Amino acid sequence: MSDTSHPALESLPERFIQRDPAARAQAERVRVVRAPGRVNLIGEHTDYNEGFVLPAAIDLEIRIAFIPTDDGRVELTLDATGERREFVVASPGPRRGEWIDYVAGTAWALTEAGLPLRGFRGLLASSLPPGAGLSSSAAIELATAWALSGPDGPALEPMALARTARRAENDYVGVQSGLMDQFAVTMGRAGMALRLDCRSLDWEAVPIPVDLELVVCHSGSPRRLEVSAYNDRRAECARAVEAIATHGPGISSLRDVDLSMLERHRTHMDEVAHARALHVVTENLRVLDAEAALKAGDREAVGRLFAASHASLRDLFEVSSPALDALVVIAAGTPGVVAARLTGAGFGGCTLNLVERGRADELRAAVERDYPARTGLMPQVFVVDAVDGAGFLSTPG
Ligand code: GLA
Repeated sequence: MSDTSHPALESLPERFIQRDPAARAQAERVRVVRAPGRVNLIGEHTDYNEGFVLPAAIDLEIRIAFIPTDDGRVELTLDATGERREFVVASPGPRRGEWIDYVAGTAWALTEAGLPLRGFRGLLASSLPPGAGLSSSAAIELATAWALSGPDGPALEPMALARTARRAENDYVGVQSGLMDQFAVTMGRAGMALRLDCRSLDWEAVPIPVDLELVVCHSGSPRRLEVSAYNDRRAECARAVEAIATHGPGISSLRDVDLSMLERHRTHMDEVAHARALHVVTENLRVLDAEAALKAGDREAVGRLFAASHASLRDLFEVSSPALDALVVIAAGTPGVVAARLTGAGFGGCTLNLVERGRADELRAAVERDYPARTGLMPQVFVVDAVDGAGFLSTPG
């Protein structure tokens, strides 16, 4: 059973009405939008290389209670800290280097896409641990997109909406991320992982076996240099593509590269570019193999593929950390754990574990006992469910 219920989310509309006089005056107009976080089962750093990913939206989420306004402004308060920020929807101004950028960037990207937007006053609460690699930023973007739109939600096809939210991140916030997070937060389906081909944008819902639970272990380690290191990885992958394309025309991304081609061109690129590309090329194969193994109920294969993915992210892509490695080692030695690997960008953050249903407490106990001793850090363990994508919780009064 999922253990993600969060009192701050349940009572959000009431607290909004209590603390905001404008909301109090029009309590019947208060609406709530929710947007989930995500885990990625497998397929890491493949999305911006036009490869495959297998994420699932989860029931750790962002909610905004809000009233629409007609003054063209957004005024948003963080429930946890009381911090309040505002901007003009039609001209949000430059990036400020804080959480409001994800909100302002979404307003900017939706305006660029030609969507009619309204202003809103709102209160934002979250059960998603921030900076944990569970896509709290994409969740803020999608919750914002719904709050800025009319009563029927954003006037865009879901995939176009996901791509517009990604623009907020790429072109306003300045992280050169791929589409996975916004896709998962938009398209999430209860009980399902979603296998996306990031080149064709074809996707398929893949049932998460009912005898397995998703368990997220948060390393509690601060993520450092995340944006610059992330953008560096992207550039290193591009370097590998460039080296191969010089000698073999028709290559536009690592999706066009297979193992034998990569090895043939090994001497044409630096070692770092080769290692990054080797991760991506093999990770794409692991996504397709993991999808097949999940469908066949082959737990042993899923476990092997998760382990290989983690090792490749640690040794070739170099985005793991001693803390994440410790969580995976502890999980590997715990009965009932089927598969464990880091999830998301890395550089700190979380691991995702597939655990035999009913045995999550054994992993929780092992992590709480061994992890602080090994790392000096405090972990957080969440049993989560795969859920539907972003949307309104309540209907307008
Ligand atoms: C972050 C990015 C995604 C993806 C992952 C790594 O979550 O936002 O686009 O690249 O890292 O797989």
